[in-house]
Amino acid sequence: MRHYWLDLPGPVWFSGADIYSTFVASVHGPAIAVELGAWKGRSTCFMGVEIANSGKPIEFFAVDTWGGSPGETGYEDADLAGGRLFDVFQANIAPVANRVKPIRADTVEAAARFADGSVDFLYIDASHTYRGVMRDLAAWFPKVREGGTIAGDDWCNEQGGELGVRHAVIDFFGRYAKHVVVLPGSQPNPDWLQWSIVKLPEMQPTGGAARACRGLARLIVRTARRCVRRLRQAPPEVQASQ
Ligand SMILES: C[S@@+](CC[C@H](N)C(=O)[O-])C[C@H]1O[C@@H](n2cnc3c(N)ncnc32)[C@H](O)[C@@H]1O
Repeated sequence: MRHYWLDLPGPVWFSGADIYSTFVASVHGPAIAVELGAWKGRSTCFMGVEIANSGKPIEFFAVDTWGGSPGETGYEDADLAGGRLFDVFQANIAPVANRVKPIRADTVEAAARFADGSVDFLYIDASHTYRGVMRDLAAWFPKVREGGTIAGDDWCNEQGGELGVRHAVIDFFGRYAKHVVVLPGSQPNPDWLQWSIVKLPEMQPTGGAARACRGLARLIVRTARRCVRRLRQAPPEVQASQ
């Protein structure tokens, strides 16, 4: 099957083709791959064709809200504004739709659908803010199996601090950050650096990872407490109706 991801209209944001191909080439049995951030499906189409051509039993999930990236600029788009982003994604992936399982959800919500240690390949290209990447790493790190690959787009901290990928990855992995490999982006974006790390058995959440996981746990507990408080403060008739 011919690759058609570069034929799709619009800016070419996907620079992880080499990382995707390397993963597919490395697979020797059933495998699960997940991409966080699919937009109009350029990366998704690339992976769909790679999987089709490999004939390998790779289950591939594309996670996105298809609602854009809050807090980031550069997403001014008529399809997004017109609420058509998911439709455009579906139309673009049509030739490989049987190779893709879209999950329309927030990345952290989607993580809850996967068992710990079940994911062989994770590519992070959803939020690019420090907080967003930390959040994705905290939610998805446990889902990746030991020996699995965690990779992502945009190894940078530019745009006045808006993009915090590099800091987040380094802080999350703490002393294991030395295992992060930084690679040129695939054509046509060699300057858009990619990052990749293999999850090692000793990489239990310590240092940055532990802090991020604890932070996420604290957030969940705080949210639950807030919900309970709100329920307690609700007028009696509301409580009675529930
Ligand atoms: C840079 S684009 C992805 C580009 C895509 N990989 C490609 O090849 O064109 C980022 C995407 O992440 C999505 N996104 C951002 N934050 C998200 C979140 N918290 N949960 C789910 N999707 C998110 C946005 O809707 C957007 O489609």
